Amino acid sequence: MSADHDWATLTVAQVPAEVTHPLRRSVLRPDGGEITWAGDEDPATFHLAARIDERVVGVVRFSPAPCPWRPEARAPWQLRGMATDPALRGAGVGRALLVDGLIRLTDRGSDVVWCDARVTAAGFYERFGFTVVTEPFDKPGIGPHVGMVADVPPPVRRAGGRRSG
Ligand SMILES: CC(C)(COP(=O)(O)OP(=O)(O)OC[C@H]1O[C@@H](n2cnc3c(N)ncnc32)[C@H](O)[C@@H]1OP(=O)(O)O)[C@@H](O)C(=O)NCCC(=O)NCCS
Repeated sequence: MSADHDWATLTVAQVPAEVTHPLRRSVLRPDGGEITWAGDEDPATFHLAARIDERVVGVVRFSPAPCPWRPEARAPWQLRGMATDPALRGAGVGRALLVDGLIRLTDRGSDVVWCDARVTAAGFYERFGFTVVTEPFDKPGIGPHVGMVADVPPPVRRAGGRRSG
């Protein structure tokens, strides 16, 4: 990332499902798997896109769904289809999407969010309060995943990540 990049132009907004398709295809289903999924058009489902200027650089979907590992959850939501532009990894696009999504889930009264996370992405989700709750399992054609769960709203972290006495 060049030092003169204008981060003020990074925005996150709710979008129609079709807006997520190009990144779903290139990042999540490069081998040609299905990029439209059951629930995409449900009225309660929402899709977010992160944009720099007008370019879509990250996408994610949230939908109400029972949590396989928290049957007592009152208002569980599933996170699916998180993908960011490979040219911008580590630059905060995923963070912007996830934080925006967690705020929207809080507004909707959610108490739990869960996902089947690619093993390679588990460390990303852990930074936002998710915990691994399963052994690794394989999704055919996609690779190893783990179940992950987080409370909504997530616990507040102290600045700098250190506890004081
Ligand atoms: C996982 C993914 C969404 C992360 O997006 P990103 O835009 O790179 O994330 P950010 O730049 O906002 O990262 C936020 C923080 O998480 C860290 N992070 C990002 N990816 C990580 C990973 N795979 N493992 C551990 N930490 C990670 C970043 O270093 C950053 O740390 P910081 O707070 O110290 O700065 C992105 O790598 C991606 O699209 N991967 C391919 C598709 C995929 O695996 N999607 C998830 C499907 S379950």
